[in-house]
Amino acid sequence: MPTHKLLLLPGDGIGPEVMAEVKRLIAWMNDHGLGRFDYEEGLVGGAAYDAHGVAVTDDTMAKAQAADAVIFGAVGGPKWDKVPYDVRPEAGLLRLRKELKLFANLRPAICYPALAESSSLKREVVDGLDIVIVRELTGGVYFGEPKTITDLGNGQKRAVDTQVYDTYEIERIARVAFELARKRRNKVTSMEKRNVMKTGVLWNEVMTVLHKREFSDVQLEHVLADAGGMQLVRWPKQFDVIVTDNLFGDMLSDVAAMLTGSLGMLPSASLGEVDPKTKKRRALYEPVHGSAPDIAGKGVANPIAMLASFGMALRYSFDLGRDADLIDEAIANVLATGYRTADIASPGATVVGTREMGEAVIREMKRLAAA
Ligand SMILES: NC(=O)c1ccc[n+]([C@@H]2O[C@H](COP(=O)([O-])OP(=O)(O)OC[C@H]3O[C@@H](n4cnc5c(N)ncnc54)[C@H](O)[C@@H]3O)[C@@H](O)[C@H]2O)c1
Repeated sequence: MPTHKLLLLPGDGIGPEVMAEVKRLIAWMNDHGLGRFDYEEGLVGGAAYDAHGVAVTDDTMAKAQAADAVIFGAVGGPKWDKVPYDVRPEAGLLRLRKELKLFANLRPAICYPALAESSSLKREVVDGLDIVIVRELTGGVYFGEPKTITDLGNGQKRAVDTQVYDTYEIERIARVAFELARKRRNKVTSMEKRNVMKTGVLWNEVMTVLHKREFSDVQLEHVLADAGGMQLVRWPKQFDVIVTDNLFGDMLSDVAAMLTGSLGMLPSASLGEVDPKTKKRRALYEPVHGSAPDIAGKGVANPIAMLASFGMALRYSFDLGRDADLIDEAIANVLATGYRTADIASPGATVVGTREMGEAVIREMKRLAAA
């Protein structure tokens, strides 16, 4: 059994609290032969700023480059609101994304039956929902040049952002989506605006060509991004994997997130290129939520997004899909028995803290593994 090298970066606020549950899970998996994980820990965000005056050190970056996967908590908080811009806590995460060249952001939207009532949509629309949005993360209008505000001298200014995509950028994100679909329900929906944007025309063309050439076994459909947004709230279960650009992905993944209830439930993965020598893919796994300063230090944060993010690492970095399924199933069962952290509490539920929820998930994994 290979040893997987992890770098854990708990960060700030509730980051260390939810990461403690991942450490408990790793220890249990190591003890029970479900994997062999070695990990180092590092500082990131405000914690790194307090210790070293930067949001992430070169030494931590080198460890991130050497790790098989980075498991990230959350950064930020009011304590660091006034620190210089380039060393603000978020700069640590941005540097990791940039230097690890993480171009694909995977955001699953899963609605556990036990939580269907906490969605703003009707139960039948979201109950059992399980889709993934694959968002291009390093290109498009957020990064394209020119990006300027020009004073036109007549009391007017002109702001320009540039949406730009090259073939290779579209092809590599398409490949991630098709490969992912093959491990799921085998369907990819590509969303762009080819009716009004040249990047949409190219996006559509590259998706179609790659599909024909390498992935004709996967079902591909093209939907205009605005219509896609509508369908996402009308009948989200029609989708499996949605692939889209940076801007549309930013919005559509937040819409999809809210189908499922609480921020404390949402994991994510950011993937880079496969190294041709090692055949390993650079990857960072993190919950979607932030450092939640309002509840930090109280032991009440929901650890499920963090645990499920580790589950994504098992699935996408280590090909341990069965163990990832075990985590997901354990989470669903624990919720079904009425265990809730405060953010997802409902009348009649047993409200527990971070640690009790982490322990309950591991206990259930143990039961499922023995069954
Ligand atoms: N990737 C990241 O590290 C990241 C992402 C978003 C925000 N942030 C930072 O986090 C700080 C707080 O930002 P925010 O308040 O806008 O967003 P947030 O996600 O931290 O919190 C939003 C709300 O959701 C609740 N919440 C979030 N995660 C929870 C969990 N696991 N369990 C229970 N409740 C949870 C919080 O208590 C809060 O009420 C800011 O400094 C922000 O910049 C960091």
